[in-house]
Amino acid sequence: MAGLTDFYAGAAPGWAAGATKVYGPLARDLVAHSPHPLQQRLVLDVGAGTGAGSAALRSAGARPVAVDLSHDMLAWDRSSRPPSAVSDVLALPFPADSFDDVVAAFVLNHLVEPVAGLRELARVTSNRGAILATAYSTQSASEARERVDDVARSQGWEPPGWYVSLKSSMAPLVGSAASMQAVAREAGLAHAVAGERPVDTGVRTAGELVDYRFGQAHYAEFLASLTAGETDALRRAALAAAEPVMEPYRPIVVFLTAIVGE
Ligand SMILES: C[S@@+](CC[C@H](N)C(=O)[O-])C[C@H]1O[C@@H](n2cnc3c(N)ncnc32)[C@H](O)[C@@H]1O
Repeated sequence: MAGLTDFYAGAAPGWAAGATKVYGPLARDLVAHSPHPLQQRLVLDVGAGTGAGSAALRSAGARPVAVDLSHDMLAWDRSSRPPSAVSDVLALPFPADSFDDVVAAFVLNHLVEPVAGLRELARVTSNRGAILATAYSTQSASEARERVDDVARSQGWEPPGWYVSLKSSMAPLVGSAASMQAVAREAGLAHAVAGERPVDTGVRTAGELVDYRFGQAHYAEFLASLTAGETDALRRAALAAAEPVMEPYRPIVVFLTAIVGE
């Protein structure tokens, strides 16, 4: 993992308490669309974060194993988490065919080389196993979310450089059904179907949306620099800005379902 920076260091509490209001339902939706029942199957949750995918897998009766580049994210709530390993998705510490299936929720969009990432996921997946992956569509938009960001900017927040390059360079590589399909094809996955659709996260209130947004990793460092009073004032201002335009939060998600093998 030489040279790889953990941009999620310090983000676990916010992610678990806030961002998971969105990522939890998205993980359950992903797992629910598995092409086969996951009961008793050994499933790698890659880019597991604080465990949204692993929890969805356990609810579906699967046996998850978690991998993430970020020790902080994997260590969150560690006593109740599945077995885990700190690892780069591009160099997984497992022999070929180690897992029945693989889940990769919102991690391929972090990679400069998503084709190499999918090849590595295919390597550790057994023949006829599924790779289930998600990324945000570049078409996904929310005025309320934009307003939260605008308020934060007015209080001194700047999107960190890693997040700017993720959004401008990496995310578009898998940011549509067509691009995800092309990545899967190039990775040699012959039986792969990509699609995109809005997913209802169940987030209805501006308060939930603010919790989600400020729980994301690109806010962690800024929020940690504020006093409690400044944080309260920021939240109140974000809430007031988002409330008038708040709609049920339904991001557009790109899905990949691939079956490994000939
Ligand atoms: C957007 S979060 C998604 C977390 C979780 N899957 C969820 O849905 O809540 C992306 C996660 O991928 C991890 N990650 C980023 N690049 C990675 C890499 N090259 N290898 C493994 N994990 C990586 C981050 O540390 C982070 O925990």
